[in-house]
Amino acid sequence: MIDLNQLAEPGSAEEEILRRIDLARLPRHIAVIMDGNGRWAKARQLPRVEGHRAGIASVREIVETCARLEVPVATLYAFSVENWKRPRYEVATLMMLLKEYIRREINTLQENNIRFVPIGRLDGLDPSVQRELEWARKETSQNSGLRFQIALNYGGRAEIVDTVNRIIALLREKGLTDFRVDEEFFSNHLYTANTPDPDLLIRTSGELRISNFLLWQVAYAEIHVTRTLWPDFRRRHLFEAILDFQGRERRYGGIDESEREMFVEAGEMPIEE
Ligand code: IPE
Ligand code: IPE
Ligand code: MG
Repeated sequence: MIDLNQLAEPGSAEEEILRRIDLARLPRHIAVIMDGNGRWAKARQLPRVEGHRAGIASVREIVETCARLEVPVATLYAFSVENWKRPRYEVATLMMLLKEYIRREINTLQENNIRFVPIGRLDGLDPSVQRELEWARKETSQNSGLRFQIALNYGGRAEIVDTVNRIIALLREKGLTDFRVDEEFFSNHLYTANTPDPDLLIRTSGELRISNFLLWQVAYAEIHVTRTLWPDFRRRHLFEAILDFQGRERRYGGIDESEREMFVEAGEMPIEE
């Protein structure tokens, strides 16, 4: 049961937004491109890494809120395959903050029944980071609540290429030479195998691009871009994104629901799949 009192102070502005959300129509998967840490720091005349440090509070709040809303899956983009281009000190600090986050948050993750699932080219990370990730993954693997996927050394194209190679190896191993791969089979061999595609993709700090995130999976995601910088992103902003999502009409290539009936009566609609 979703406990609304745990999600917003009674009488607060965020409670007012929360009340407008239809809890029966929440996204099944929320994906987030956490962007704007550098700009947040710059605006305060602080080094970029201070933006990353401040961004951890947002991660904590958004992950906990998704868990309390009983959203099944959340994927946070934390480090892309392209982010190695950044100054060495920044990359090292990001990795250090990640390890710190895991150590500090593991109890909260357990208390909230959250499964921690790192995705990406994890073998390209420093062994000390890999060990922490694997430890947290195992510790939380029996939890049945929110699946919190954290994308690290992640690239959407890299994921597709890795999936192709994995499938080739699998088919070779099984001696299946004339097997035809379909979309479902392909999806189930991605890093995100057996999870629903994101219904809602949030990007903070106003940039109108995907930046190589979940390319296959976002095919029909609703996109919410906010100018709010990631370190300022709080529950209230998540509620606003969900409200925005619930106001969208999803057609998946079809036509408006309100127009459908007329065409069904006229015998114009193809047989339902
Ligand atoms: C997002 O914030 C965090 C990571 C990519 C790791 P940025 O560091 O990209 O912040 P801006 O875009 O420079 O403001
Ligand atoms: C996307 O943000 C990657 C992460 C959030 C980890 P970037 O800041 O790296 O993306 P670009 O450079 O603006 O496309
Ligand atoms: Mg950025």
